[in-house]
Amino acid sequence: MANKYLNTYVRSTVYFMQELKIKAYAKINLTLDVLGKRSDGYHELATIMQTIDLADVLTFKEKERGISIVTSSMDIPTDEKNLAYQAAQLFLEKNQLATGVEITLEKQIPVMAGLAGGSSDAAATLLGLKKLWDLPVSQEELWQMAVQLGSDVAFCLKGGTCLAQGRGEILTPLLSPPPLWLVVVKPKLAVSTAWVYQNLDLLNIQERPDNEVMIRALAKGEVEEIAGCLGNVLETVTLPSYPILGEIKERMKALGALGVLMSGSGPTLFGFTASQGEAEIIARALEGEMERVFVTTTLGSRKEVNGERGE
Ligand code: C5P
Repeated sequence: MANKYLNTYVRSTVYFMQELKIKAYAKINLTLDVLGKRSDGYHELATIMQTIDLADVLTFKEKERGISIVTSSMDIPTDEKNLAYQAAQLFLEKNQLATGVEITLEKQIPVMAGLAGGSSDAAATLLGLKKLWDLPVSQEELWQMAVQLGSDVAFCLKGGTCLAQGRGEILTPLLSPPPLWLVVVKPKLAVSTAWVYQNLDLLNIQERPDNEVMIRALAKGEVEEIAGCLGNVLETVTLPSYPILGEIKERMKALGALGVLMSGSGPTLFGFTASQGEAEIIARALEGEMERVFVTTTLGSRKEVNGERGE
């Protein structure tokens, strides 16, 4: 009898092994202001974040125990240093699950680029595992796990267009503009976020972005106006240290970009254009010299795009 039940159990477990695919979208920062240094070592931010249509694809496959990351990318770790691994570990712990998961990561988002690739993989892992096992995990619980994993993970859970404050985890959703064309350029440089913040001289910031002006421009949805009020104070660290970034910005403008900015702590630059064709002209002119170049658009929240979050 016991054996019969055991066999049935094993067979049905194998039969019901779940598998699920989910996209992890990149973000850009339309504005990024740093208001001060906090006592916990982080910086107080006021940044408008925007999801773009550039994504990694994650596949989650239930397994009996343990976490494994499978990827063909040479740029990311597959052990506990990987943020998706950490997200899976945290999710299993918090939900007291004894099972395991294999995560296959098809990377598209460049690494150490200022596009939140790792954070987005972590956010997609939290969402993916909730969905894989159909667990009643609340938005609040997901948000708490996200905040524990990193400053950008909470935004990546939500997506769309948000004002992010605090470390980046206090989110106010904003009206997303209609899809806007942009060219995203990742130069052949890697820049550490921690290094950028450590070298930020808060007394030496001459120009700050105006979030209120950007919020009004986003509500109107006009690309020239949005491109006209981009601003990122972290450029005061990276532009003097990597003069090539300033040169690329000028070339993108000369090639027709309406406004060009560094995303997050960089070194990726993005430029808005009035059409796909204009973005492609810039991409073609620069792609030989860059690590990666993408032509893409802004996106609304996951809910707006495909209802994935079921909020
Ligand atoms: O939170 P996360 O691990 O993504 O941050 C990476 C690094 O960026 C932190 O260790 C910190 O040096 C810096 N950071 C900061 N203030 C923030 C976000 C990040 O100083 N609001």
